[in-house]
Amino acid sequence: MKAPNVLDRLDPFHGGKKERERCLSTGRLAPFLLPCLCLTTILSLFLYFPNPFEAVSKREIQQKGAPIVKPPEGNAILNCNLYEGRWIQYRRDFNYKNSSCIPEARNCFLHGRTDRDFLNWRWKPYACNLPKFDPRIFLDMVRGNKMAFIGDSVSMNQVESLVCLLSKEEVPKFVYKDSAEQNRIWHFPEHDFILMNLWSRFLVAAEQRMINGSLSAAYNLQIDKVDEDWTANLQTIDYVVISNGLWFFRQIYLYKGDTVVGCVDCEEPNVTKVSPSGAIQMALRTALVYINGCKECRGIVTVVRTFSPTHFEHGSWDTGGICNRTKPSDERQIIWVGEPWNIRKIQVEETERMGKEGKEQGKSFVAMDVTKAMLMRPDGHPGDYWGNLRNKDFRDCLHWCLPGPIDTWNEFLMAILEIETGLVS
Ligand SMILES: *[C@@H]1O[C@H](CO)[C@@H](O)[C@H](O)[C@H]1NC(C)=O
Ligand SMILES: *[C@@H]1O[C@H](CO)[C@@H](O)[C@H](O)[C@H]1NC(C)=O
Ligand SMILES: *[C@@H]1O[C@H](CO)[C@@H](O)[C@H](O)[C@H]1NC(C)=O
Ligand SMILES: *[C@@H]1O[C@H](CO)[C@@H](O)[C@H](O)[C@H]1NC(C)=O
Repeated sequence: MKAPNVLDRLDPFHGGKKERERCLSTGRLAPFLLPCLCLTTILSLFLYFPNPFEAVSKREIQQKGAPIVKPPEGNAILNCNLYEGRWIQYRRDFNYKNSSCIPEARNCFLHGRTDRDFLNWRWKPYACNLPKFDPRIFLDMVRGNKMAFIGDSVSMNQVESLVCLLSKEEVPKFVYKDSAEQNRIWHFPEHDFILMNLWSRFLVAAEQRMINGSLSAAYNLQIDKVDEDWTANLQTIDYVVISNGLWFFRQIYLYKGDTVVGCVDCEEPNVTKVSPSGAIQMALRTALVYINGCKECRGIVTVVRTFSPTHFEHGSWDTGGICNRTKPSDERQIIWVGEPWNIRKIQVEETERMGKEGKEQGKSFVAMDVTKAMLMRPDGHPGDYWGNLRNKDFRDCLHWCLPGPIDTWNEFLMAILEIETGLVS
């Protein structure tokens, strides 16, 4: 584990000058009081946008008679563990309208990837079939709703996949993006559906740590306080897809109030050592407790996406690690121990615990447990093919090609929505 970490290198939008300057000025003034990312633009946008926060709950929509389309698979996904399964060969159609929806850094074919067999696999749960992504069913289910993805660039990777998949049915209007393209909003007018990406690396309040007067790669986290960048309009949102993970693999000081309660990846006397999974657990719990405690958020469905593994081989991310495989791994080739697996377990446990408490509040918390499926997909990353002009020496074995196996996450999401909306029952 080293700092800076791989995300500093691979995210085309991270670590830009602007962001550093903003963090610097706020950091000097009042640690933790001002978020680095300015959401005021987003908020003011909503003043002009027609009814973005008019709260129409999923259940009201259903009472009006929609959605119309029944999933062809029927109720088979109920009581089926969607996440225990394997990848089977399957000739896929191109599920995107066209490639114009794919962000450049995720468009592996644009950057020269030639093998295509990695697209021709489907996730097959042992006990049932995972319904194919159907943009019509999906958009019917979320008609009149707002869905927010909250997380880092891997979370954004899933949103981008979703936009591409949905575009086959309706091409959304791009309503807003900030200068770093980290916070973004799309509107699907025919379905009155709003999709957002809200950027939060840690889910809790965070700022880069100053060391000897300059910003370091380390972070200070206020582990008991949510990142207000994503909570501002939570009461207007119907579906939240939340995740945290790779940003915790670096030096992180964990604060409660003014007190340091622990530290990830540091050697300091008298400071409790915390593993990345331990810090992820604290941050996720803070986020879930906040959502569950939100009085105005009745009916909100929170999907916790579990850890998305990286696949650097023949070296780590900063020592020439590569990911040039062209097919999924066999389940038997994977070692089911270690930090990715711990993190996944913690994320599932935290979600299940909150699921029990949330019932009383009329809230759902559901784990979208992608870790196992994705551990088997070393072939799904951009690797050399991400347009790495700035960082020629780094391969992206962390994000996922579009199209690619990450599209499966949106099939999981569709299945979750079918269950949550009562479309299958
Ligand atoms: C791709 O889809 C977009 C959105 O519908 C459209 O504007 C564009 O013309 C399409 N491009 C091609 C090459 O078909
Ligand atoms: C900060 O500066 C002091 C004095 O120049 C130096 O001894 C110390 O190692 C520096 N600390 C770090 C973390 O760079
Ligand atoms: C660590 O804790 C001990 C006992 O409380 C104290 O004597 C010592 O000064 C502390 N060391 C540091 C570096 O804070
Ligand atoms: C992947 O790269 C390694 C090291 O350069 C090479 O030995 C191997 O043959 C490559 N595999 C494929 C499938 O291209």
